Amino acid sequence: MDLCISKLNRHIGETVTLKGWVYNKRSSGKIKFLIFRDGTGIIQAVIVKGNVPESVLENFEKLTQETSLSITGLVKEDKRSPIGVELELSDLKVFHVAEEYPLGKKDHGIDFLLSKRHLWLRSKRPSAILRIRDSYIRAIRDFFFQEGFALVDSPIFTPNACEGTSTLFETEYFDQKAYLSQSGQLYAEAAAMALGKVYCFGPTFRAEKSKTRRHLTEFWMVEPEAAYFDLEDDMALAERFLEFTIQRVLKECAVELQTLERDTTKLQNVKAPFPKISYTEAVELLKAKGQSVQFGDDFGAPEETIIGESFDRPVFIHRYPAKIKAFYMKRDPQNPELALAMDCIAPEGYGEIIGGSQREDDYETLVKRLKEQGLPLEPFEWYLDLRRYGSVPHAGFGLGVERTLSWICGLDHLRETAAFPRMMYRLEP
Ligand code: 4AD
Ligand code: MG
Repeated sequence: MDLCISKLNRHIGETVTLKGWVYNKRSSGKIKFLIFRDGTGIIQAVIVKGNVPESVLENFEKLTQETSLSITGLVKEDKRSPIGVELELSDLKVFHVAEEYPLGKKDHGIDFLLSKRHLWLRSKRPSAILRIRDSYIRAIRDFFFQEGFALVDSPIFTPNACEGTSTLFETEYFDQKAYLSQSGQLYAEAAAMALGKVYCFGPTFRAEKSKTRRHLTEFWMVEPEAAYFDLEDDMALAERFLEFTIQRVLKECAVELQTLERDTTKLQNVKAPFPKISYTEAVELLKAKGQSVQFGDDFGAPEETIIGESFDRPVFIHRYPAKIKAFYMKRDPQNPELALAMDCIAPEGYGEIIGGSQREDDYETLVKRLKEQGLPLEPFEWYLDLRRYGSVPHAGFGLGVERTLSWICGLDHLRETAAFPRMMYRLEP
C-alpha cells in the first residue's frame, strides 16, 4: 500500500482518503488549513468555504490537536510544500476528539518532554529520528547479510561479566544470581567457532552512574565476530561497515535529516579508507594539542573529542595499553604491553562508537588473564572450552547504535535516538 503521505506525490490528480491525526490547524477568512499527519509525513489540506458541505466546516471547528480522523480530497501539486503536494479537502470523518493535548506549541523543557515521551514521539523531530533508526538498523542487517555473516543472538540473562564488574545489573534468577548482558561478545565467539562469521544484535545493559550525553543504561549493540580474523581484518570490516551503513542512511533518509536540519556534508565523507593511528600516536597528537595525557591513560570524552575533530572522517585508534583494556584481548606479539584492540572515534565530537579487538586464543594465557583481573574461572569454563577444542585466531567488534545515531542525526544527547531511553534517573514511561 503506497497510499500514505510520504508517497502521495505519485497520486497527483487522484482523490484519496488518508487516516491519521490533526497536527495543527488555522483559518484565514474563507480558507481553512488542516495540517494533518499519518505517521509517514505531514500534509496541508485546504478547505475552501462554499466548496464543501457545511457539515465539513462544522467538523473542522471541532478538531483539536491530535484528534484522529480520516480525510478525503484531491491531491494537487504544490511546489512550496516540502513533499511537493497538498490536498484539496472534500470530506473528513472524526474518529476521536482528543482532549487538550499536553504538548502544545510552546517550548517545553527536556524533562517534561521525556516524561511525556509516549506522546512526544508523535512530533516531527522524534518521528524523523525513529525513521532514521529504522533505516540504520536495516542497513546493519543488510550489510552483514551481504558479507556472509549469520545472525546468532546472545542471551540477555548471563551468569558472567564481559565488560568489567562495575557496571553489572544484577537480578534474581530463581535461586541463583544473574546479570543483564553487557555485551553478547563471549557468546558470539562461541557461535563464530560454529558458523565462521556471525553477529549478534540486541539490547545490552550497563549500570552507568555517569550522567553524560553518551551513556544510556540500556542500549543496542551490534557485534560481529569472525573466525580467522586478525586485528587488521577487524578494522577493515568496521570500515566497510560504517561506509555502507552511513551512505545508505544518507540516501534513504534525506527528508528526515533535513527535518533535523542536519548538515550532512561531513557524513558524505564517510568513505574508506579511514585514518588509523596507534594509541601511542594518539597520545602524541593529544600532547601536541596541549593535553597533559601520559602513556597508559585511558581517553575520556574530552580526549576523544579532540582526536575525532582532528580528522574529516571516523578514525581508528589501535594497540592500546593492555592494562586499560579487557581480559579477553590478545596481546601484541611485537609488544606484550599492548592489546590488539581498536576503537573507532566518530568525527564532530561524538566520541567512541566502536570498540573491538582480536581475542586471546591461547588457553593458558586466557586463564592467566582471568586470574590477573580477579575474575572467577568457573563461570568462564564454557568460554575456555573454545580454547580447548580447535582454537583459532578470531576478532570482532561492537558498535553502539544509539551513539552512532546521535552522530548521524547531529544530536546533543543520545537519549533522543531511543524510543524510550533508559538512564540513571529515568525509568518512565
Ligand atoms: O567498547 P565496548 O564496551 O565493547 C564491548 O562491549 C565489546 N565486548 C564489543 C565487542 O568487541 N564485541 O562497547 C562497544 C560500544 C561502544 O563503542 C559504544 O558505542 C557503545 O558500545 N556503548 C554504549 N552506548 C550507550 N551507552 C552506554 N553506556 C554504552 N557503553 C558502550
Ligand atoms: Mg569501549
